Amino acid sequence: MGNIIEDELFSSSVIKDIHALDFDYVPSELPHRAEQLKKLAQMFKPLFANMAQNAFIRGPVGTGKTAMVKYFCQSLVQIARKQGKIVEYVHINCRKRSSYAMVLLGVLNHFDSRFPDRGFSVQEMLEILRTHLQRKEAQLILVLDEVDALMKKGGSTLIYDLTRFNDETLKTGNPVSVIMISQKDIFADLEEAALSTFKRSNIVVLEKYIRDELYDIVRQRVSLAFHTNTVLGESIDLIADIASEFGDARFSIELLWKAGMYADEKHAKQVVPEHVRAAKAETYSVVTETKLKNLGRHQLLALLSIAKRLQKEGAAYANTGEVEKTYAITCEEYHEDARAHTMFWNYLKEIEQAGFIRVKPSGKGQVGASQFISLPDIPAEVLRGKLEELLA
Ligand SMILES: Nc1ncnc2c1ncn2[C@@H]1O[C@H](COP(=O)(O)OP(=O)(O)OP(=O)(O)O)[C@@H](O)[C@H]1O
Ligand SMILES: [Mg+2]
Repeated sequence: MGNIIEDELFSSSVIKDIHALDFDYVPSELPHRAEQLKKLAQMFKPLFANMAQNAFIRGPVGTGKTAMVKYFCQSLVQIARKQGKIVEYVHINCRKRSSYAMVLLGVLNHFDSRFPDRGFSVQEMLEILRTHLQRKEAQLILVLDEVDALMKKGGSTLIYDLTRFNDETLKTGNPVSVIMISQKDIFADLEEAALSTFKRSNIVVLEKYIRDELYDIVRQRVSLAFHTNTVLGESIDLIADIASEFGDARFSIELLWKAGMYADEKHAKQVVPEHVRAAKAETYSVVTETKLKNLGRHQLLALLSIAKRLQKEGAAYANTGEVEKTYAITCEEYHEDARAHTMFWNYLKEIEQAGFIRVKPSGKGQVGASQFISLPDIPAEVLRGKLEELLA
């Protein structure tokens, strides 16, 4: 038995660098985002005169928002350093850290990895941040990724406080710039005071990728992640065709990665269209593994409960009351304390906002009546498998 495992572990692979297929890997060039990067660079010129800038990046799933902002900020840090300026860059995913205090904690952890999780008020944390920046003679670029998750939980106050913070740092030259990223427009949810600090002109909108753009993106990934001549041109064509329905680069890269895994499983020397078709059969456009990794543990448990109900009943919809009962049992299985009703509803809201489920009223029309939940494009059984793996 040991031999079989060893043989498979060290069998040859079409993949040369698996990291280049990671969801947080940022390639050294971003095809078809040059114009948008130029626009960002224009916006952030004032940074070099120690003036804070804010921007908002909006666009549908997988259009390169996160990748582009990471690319931009990492470059900016380097370029500033050459000019003798210190720019600290902190990237926060607000679906993971979904409150004002948790975001600030994330920022402070960047400066001090042992900063305690509790015991400080936000005002105190802001002061500590100021001290860090002054000591380092640095300015900060704070990226609030998936910021819509923060909007109902202090997002406005955070933005507002950071602006006031800047008014005071004007003298010391340690400004804080904010880049917000979201699939949706968030201006409607920002309170007046915070809104005024975000000039509406500082918006970069990313459109869905068209087929030929996806082709270039996949081709680049092939050369970064695969051995030479191991992916047929036709396979790249097919991936671009399939992904163009959604315009989503993440989906195309997951297809490529899965197709590579298939080729390896079959001990094939090349990734052929048949491997792409097999990959497509188990890759879903909405519920991608990379997006699941951004959910908190209780959101995952809630989602797992939905998958369990739908799988058990074989029905199109699960009702929220039933799901909540299953959630309590699921929590027990995973040795977690089930959260109270209102929190559970928040989790449902969050996973709905992130696109994992659809929720519709059950039609009874009463306030507080239970609702129906469905899954957009993934079989409940497959989702359950993925979630159980993640939660293990
Ligand atoms: N222009 C590009 N060139 C190369 N790779 C890209 C490009 N755009 C996106 N990608 C890759 O596609 C994947 C998805 O991109 P990204 O995570 O930036 O999407 P997003 O817009 O932030 O999506 P979401 O709204 O789901 O957060 C990443 O692996 C990223 O590296
Ligand atoms: Mg993103």
